Amino acid sequence: ADPDPLQDFCVADLNATISVNGFPCKPASKVNANDFFFDGLTKEGNTSYTTNNLGSSVTAANVLSFPGLNTLGAAMNRVDFAPGGLNPPHSHPRATESGVVIQGKLLVGFVTTQNVYYSKVLGVGEMFVIPKGLVHFQKNVGTGKALAFTAFNSHLPGVVLSTSLFASQPSIPNDVLTQTFQVDDAVVNAIKSKFGS
Ligand code: GLV
Ligand code: MN
Repeated sequence: ADPDPLQDFCVADLNATISVNGFPCKPASKVNANDFFFDGLTKEGNTSYTTNNLGSSVTAANVLSFPGLNTLGAAMNRVDFAPGGLNPPHSHPRATESGVVIQGKLLVGFVTTQNVYYSKVLGVGEMFVIPKGLVHFQKNVGTGKALAFTAFNSHLPGVVLSTSLFASQPSIPNDVLTQTFQVDDAVVNAIKSKFGS
């Protein structure tokens, strides 16, 4: 989890010019009820396959979108899925993730540091946990749309996508990737072209 808070709250001043581990606090005199409530997860995300080829959409409530979370070690996401939609393999370097299915049927899986794969298909109301830092995904295996809410013990869990080695700017040299994945340049170039590196 993130460090413990030293005060009741520290609503983030996202525009402060100083840099600290987290964000500095807005003066308490400028804090009001709206700092502690967030309606950004009420709307369904755009899960159209033409948007991202994946048929899924993550809407984040973390310190950047909901500054009241600053220093409190908590954040949530809303994850929407079209039929067949995939929230692709990724990890959160700073948080354990728990989640609950609100609509539909999700295959939830993660891989341990020993390369053991754990997975289960979950229905409405069922919950999962992804241990901190492990690679995981969710796929809609039902017939209609699916919806899940996830929760994190960090105000900014971070996301490392499993495709990030092919998406970096500047690009990682091809010889590093061909040697790593034991494939030729054409394969690396094809994957890079899909992820923008
Ligand atoms: C799901 O894995 C999420 O990060 O919200
Ligand atoms: Mn996740």
